[in-house]
Amino acid sequence: MKEMTAGNLRSAFGGESQAHMRYLIYADKAKEEGFNNVSRLFTAISDAERVHATHHFKTMADVSGAFLVPSMAGFGYSATSANLDIAIGGESFEINEMYPSYIAVAKDQEEGSAEESFRYSYLSEKIHLKMFQKAKEAVDNGKDVDLGVVQICQECGYTKEGDAPAQCPVCKKPKEWFKAFA
Ligand SMILES: [Fe+2]
Ligand SMILES: [Fe+2]
Repeated sequence: MKEMTAGNLRSAFGGESQAHMRYLIYADKAKEEGFNNVSRLFTAISDAERVHATHHFKTMADVSGAFLVPSMAGFGYSATSANLDIAIGGESFEINEMYPSYIAVAKDQEEGSAEESFRYSYLSEKIHLKMFQKAKEAVDNGKDVDLGVVQICQECGYTKEGDAPAQCPVCKKPKEWFKAFA
C-alpha cells in the first residue's frame, strides 16, 4: 500500500478508536444527567465508530509494524450539552476535511480498498452529525431527545433510526448485519 494512504488509514484508525471511547464516556455522563436517549445515541454511534476503526484496521492488514499515530481527536468532559458540541465538532471535521482529503489521496494513489473504507466512514459521519445536532437541540431545551431504535451496520457503520433496511444502502450487506440499540 502507498505510504500516504497507509498513514491516513492509521490516523483514521486512531481517530475512530478515540471517538469510540469518547462516546462511551459521554454516554455514561448523559445517563447520569437523566438523558437516557442521548446516552443510547452515544452508545450506538460509539459502536459505529468501532466498526469504522475495525474496517480501517483490516484494510491495512498487509502493513505491519509499530508506528506513532497522529490523529485529530476531540477532548473535553463536562455537561452533556458541551459534550455534544465536541461530538458535533469531531463529526464536522471528519465530514468537511478529513475524509474528503483521505478519499481524494486514496483515489489518486489507486488504493481502492482504502478509498472504500474512508467512504464508508464518511457516509455514516454525515448521519451522526445530524443525530447529534438534534440531540443538542433537545438537551439545550432541557429535554431528552426523541429517538427510535438505532441500527448500526456491522460491516460499514451505516447508521439508521427505525427498522433495519433489507439491505445496507452503503455496503449492500443484508439486514442481518445490523445491530439494534433499543
Ligand atoms: Fe461518527
Ligand atoms: Fe453497511
